[in-house]
Amino acid sequence: MERLRSGILSGSRATVAGLVLFALAILVTVPEVSATRYTVGGNQGWTTNVNYTIWAQGKHFYKDDWLFFVYDRNQMNILEVNKTDYEACNADHPLHNWTRGAGRDVVPLNVTRHYYFISGKGFCYGGMKLAIRVETPPPPPSASPINEKSSAPRSTSYRGKFFLPAVFAIGAAWDAFVRFW
Ligand SMILES: *[C@@H]1O[C@H](CO)[C@@H](O)[C@H](O)[C@H]1NC(C)=O
Ligand SMILES: *[C@@H]1O[C@H](CO)[C@@H](O)[C@H](O)[C@H]1NC(C)=O
Ligand SMILES: *[C@@H]1O[C@H](CO)[C@@H](O)[C@H](O)[C@H]1NC(C)=O
Ligand SMILES: *[C@@H]1O[C@H](CO)[C@@H](O)[C@H](O)[C@H]1NC(C)=O
Repeated sequence: MERLRSGILSGSRATVAGLVLFALAILVTVPEVSATRYTVGGNQGWTTNVNYTIWAQGKHFYKDDWLFFVYDRNQMNILEVNKTDYEACNADHPLHNWTRGAGRDVVPLNVTRHYYFISGKGFCYGGMKLAIRVETPPPPPSASPINEKSSAPRSTSYRGKFFLPAVFAIGAAWDAFVRFW
């Protein structure tokens, strides 16, 4: 009985592999489960002589996207402030100090609201300041193709796919298959 069972199993492996690949293809290509990580300033990063208002123009920041700040850790930092302090370049009472020390800090945009970032140490006055508005993600089926077409910011960001759900789904499919036999 066991031998027969395993015989059936191994004989059906190709089918299972096909199903698994199919499931993977569906899950990985669905755009609405992806979030975007924006490298602030693109190739230039978080530094002087970049106008971050212009950098942010035309970009849509959605809840659960990330900002990735890459900068000279010996000089700059990354502080989240309120609107007043953003406008005044006041670094004296930040809402959040995102500086971790490596010069590479990730900020999760997990609330739909305005975010204001400045670099302290005087760099804000030179333009190292970023104001963005985080929006509610568009409803998946209708809005995601539009999102794909607006290819302008693609060079400065990459879309992080959520592979974990795919892995779980495959695990579940395999489990169901094995139980079925
Ligand atoms: C920002 O914080 C400063 C200092 O805490 C405060 O005086 C100011 O009113 C705040 N501005 C806003 C828009 O909340
Ligand atoms: C922000 O945090 C970093 C790392 O903990 C620290 O070195 C730095 O002094 C802090 N800056 C401000 C303005 O609080
Ligand atoms: C958003 O992220 C910050 C920093 O990781 C965390 O402190 C805060 O609790 C989060 N807020 C929500 C609503 O998840
Ligand atoms: C960045 O560009 C915007 C729009 O052109 C302009 O209003 C703003 O003054 C510029 N900021 C800096 C710091 O040059």
